[in-house]
Formats: sequence, structure tokens, C-alpha cells
Amino acid sequence: MSALNKIARTMVSDRRGILAADESIGTMSARLEKVGVEATAENRRVYRELIVTTPRLSESISGIILADETFHQKVSDGRTFPEFLEDIGILTGIKVDTGAKPLAGSPDEKITEGLDGLRERVTDYVRLGATFAKWRAVITIGEDEPSARAVRANVHALARYAGLCQEAGLVPIVEPEVLMDGDHSLERCRQVTTAVLESLFEELDLMRVRLDGIVLKPNMVVAGTGSPERPTVDEVAKATVETLRETVPSSVPGIAFLSGGQSPELATRHLGAMQKLDPLPWELTYSFGRALVGPALEAWRGDEANRAAAQNALSERAVANAAAR
Ligand code: 13P
Repeated sequence: MSALNKIARTMVSDRRGILAADESIGTMSARLEKVGVEATAENRRVYRELIVTTPRLSESISGIILADETFHQKVSDGRTFPEFLEDIGILTGIKVDTGAKPLAGSPDEKITEGLDGLRERVTDYVRLGATFAKWRAVITIGEDEPSARAVRANVHALARYAGLCQEAGLVPIVEPEVLMDGDHSLERCRQVTTAVLESLFEELDLMRVRLDGIVLKPNMVVAGTGSPERPTVDEVAKATVETLRETVPSSVPGIAFLSGGQSPELATRHLGAMQKLDPLPWELTYSFGRALVGPALEAWRGDEANRAAAQNALSERAVANAAAR
């Protein structure tokens, strides 16, 4: 077993999942302000410390993805976040993309940036304790979207990112997110997700990315948020697993879903329903952001007195997702 494969397996095994706490400064600030907390670097640190110090988190969480700001901050006892996570048996991940920007020629679509200087940056992150990384590409569904341009540009960037990570010994989480925004049907989401994943695996092959040393982070196959369609939990589970079986080679050790704006409970139910669709050639787990920490942030609202309630809310989601596996 290669070192990369060993890390990837640790990330997705033992019914554990990955917690995405890597919201950019802008996104995290907006979420804090929404619950009445001033958006300062210190408040972002305090909130992230609350998350990572949740009791018994390592029983259901294998890895936590950090943003660059948090990666360099410290918990109250002086350990850096990566040092603290290592001490409690959780792997440290780092978001290395620098955000999705409008794509030239397609103003309604986005291309994720961050390849310039990435080789040097990943070397630094490894030295400071990272074992895996994340890069998120976003694909929009619209009447004329996604364009072939947007898909090709994004899967190319994902594959080059993945190659650079593996060269440095980091397991890349490869995240091509087909967004839920829009009034499209589940069938349309299935078609677009299939096309994106097919294109992604061609590009990963071209760039000589070792598939046994990645974790794929896709969307579930769902109807758009504005669609009148209300597929059942079993329909979503079936469409998602069929799409993945058609496109994802069995050498990929694990698939960790994003939640994408689904309610925490629904995301968990979808995950649970998929486990029953044997045989699954890969581990199917979660790498949720909002569906794991949303209730905790609501419960906390910046008040130290709510700390235990917030940590309980996170624990509850983490335990429910582990149980769904
Ligand atoms: P959500 O689960 O909130 O979609 O976030 C996952 C993530 O990491 C997006 O990049």
C-alpha cells in the first residue's frame, strides 16, 4: 500500500467522514454576521476552536479541512490547529484553491483559480502538518450551461492540482461540484454529473494522477432547488450510486459527498440510503460543511454560554452521519 493510499483509506474508513471547516474568509464572515457575531479573525478562530474541540469528534470524523487562515492560527493552549488535530487523532486537510472566478467567454460560469505557486505552497503545508488537500470546482446547470469550455477548464485545473498534491505527498480531495441552484430535474443533474465525472477521470488519467491516492468529493444527484420535482430519498440514492458506478473507477478508495445546501437531516438520510445499494466498489462517506456545522453555528451565536449546546449540535450530526454509514 502506498503512503497516499494509506492516508486516503484512513480518511474514508471506519464509518468516519471529513468535516469541511474551510470556508473562505468572506464566506465565514458572512455566516458569522448572519448569527450576530462580528466578523474578525479572532472570532473566526474562536468558532473554529469550538468546532475542533468538540468532545469525541475523532470517533466520527477522520479529517478536518482548514482554510489557510485557520491553518496558521492557534488554539487557546498555544498549539497550532494542525498540531492540535494530530494530537486528537484527526488528519489535517487544507483548502488550496483561491476561489472560483468568472470564466472568460462564459460570464455566468466559473473557473477555480490557484495553480500559480501551488507547488511551493503545498510543500509548506506538508511541512506544517497537512496530510490532504481540497480544491473545489463549481459547475452551473442552466439552459446553456454547463458549456464544454467550463467543464474542460475546471477538470483540467482539478487534475493539475491533484498531480501537484500527490507529488508533495498530499492526498487531493477532488471536488467537482455540480450546483443545486436552478430549476433543473434530477435527470438533468444526472446527465451533467455523468459528463463532468467522465471528463474528470479522462483528465486525471492524462495528468498521471494515481486514483488510489485521491478522495472524490462529488455532489449527490438531486433535483435543482427551484425544481417542482421532489424525488424520494431512495430515488436520489439510486440515481447517485448509478451515476458513480458508471463513471468512478473502483481503484478510487473513497467518495465523500458535499452537502451542497441540503438540510442536515436530508443529507444524512441520502447517505444512509446509499449504503444499502450493495455492492459498492468504494467507501461512500461524507465531507459535509453546512450539514455538519450549520446547527452548531446556529446554537452558538457567539455566546460562550452556548458553547456546550453548539458542540452537542455538531456531535449529533457527526454521530448521525457515522451511523448512516
Ligand atoms: P457543503 O457541505 O456545505 O456543501 O460544503 C462542502 C464543501 O466543502 C464545499 O466545498
